[in-house]
Amino acid sequence: MSTNHELTGRVAIVTGGATGIGRAIALTLARAGADIAIADIDSEGAKETVKLVEQEGRRAMAVEADITRSDDVERAVEESIGALGRIDILVNNAGRSYMRPLLDFREDAWDSIFAANCKGPFLMSRAAARKMIEQGGGRIINITTSGAERATAGMGPYLVSKAALKMLTMCMAAEWAQHNINVNAVGPGLTRTEFSKPIWDHPERAKAYLRGVPKGRVAEPEEIADAVLFLASDAADFVTGHSLYVDGGYLCV
Ligand SMILES: NC(=O)c1ccc[n+]([C@@H]2O[C@H](COP(=O)([O-])OP(=O)(O)OC[C@H]3O[C@@H](n4cnc5c(N)ncnc54)[C@H](O)[C@@H]3O)[C@@H](O)[C@H]2O)c1
Repeated sequence: MSTNHELTGRVAIVTGGATGIGRAIALTLARAGADIAIADIDSEGAKETVKLVEQEGRRAMAVEADITRSDDVERAVEESIGALGRIDILVNNAGRSYMRPLLDFREDAWDSIFAANCKGPFLMSRAAARKMIEQGGGRIINITTSGAERATAGMGPYLVSKAALKMLTMCMAAEWAQHNINVNAVGPGLTRTEFSKPIWDHPERAKAYLRGVPKGRVAEPEEIADAVLFLASDAADFVTGHSLYVDGGYLCV
């Protein structure tokens, strides 16, 4: 690993780090030297990730928190800093989706998707940025999706919420560059986790999706985590407001 990807001495909060892409991000940042706080509604999964991070020789802690609730968010940031001393990196990875056509989509489902995918990252970023400003800077990385750039039938509200998160990334980048806070997004293509199992594990849906992916396969969570590591590291010091798609070429055809 090049030295400018090292995160030794830095502390990262990963939301939704109990499983899937979030767990892979936590482990990748830990292997690069960072200590890790996991904020997740799934406290059992979060504790398991903490154990795995500790096996990498890093400090780790878990906070049970719902990112859609501002009291949980404030507590998560305070407890993380209380336990690990500072916050340098925030990865807004927690997210939700329902697959349903727009004509059948319920209002409460719309609200819950936007709460998890837009409001939660805003609340977490605002709370973390206030601390990062006191510390002299930091990095925020939002996990969007390649679908933020291209419509797919049956996933409307999810994709709209992630497109909004992409714009939130740019707005935060514009406002917080003066505080030395870089804000970027990583947009995965279809990635092998429980979240997307209904697509990659469904022969017809998987075949239809992969027809549009030049690399011809789904991503592994570690491949998304490597992009997050780049954006969290000194190598990306002049990169802000950018969306990096890790999608096997889905958006270029
Ligand atoms: N898997 C894919 O194919 C794929 C593709 C593109 C984008 N993404 C995005 O990547 C991110 C991670 O996806 P994944 O596949 O690992 O999903 P996952 O469902 O396996 O994990 C999501 C995690 O977020 C947590 N979470 C959900 N709502 C929360 C809330 N309100 N507060 C705190 N924690 C909450 C869950 O408990 C879980 O641990 C999501 O934002 C998702 O939209 C995934």
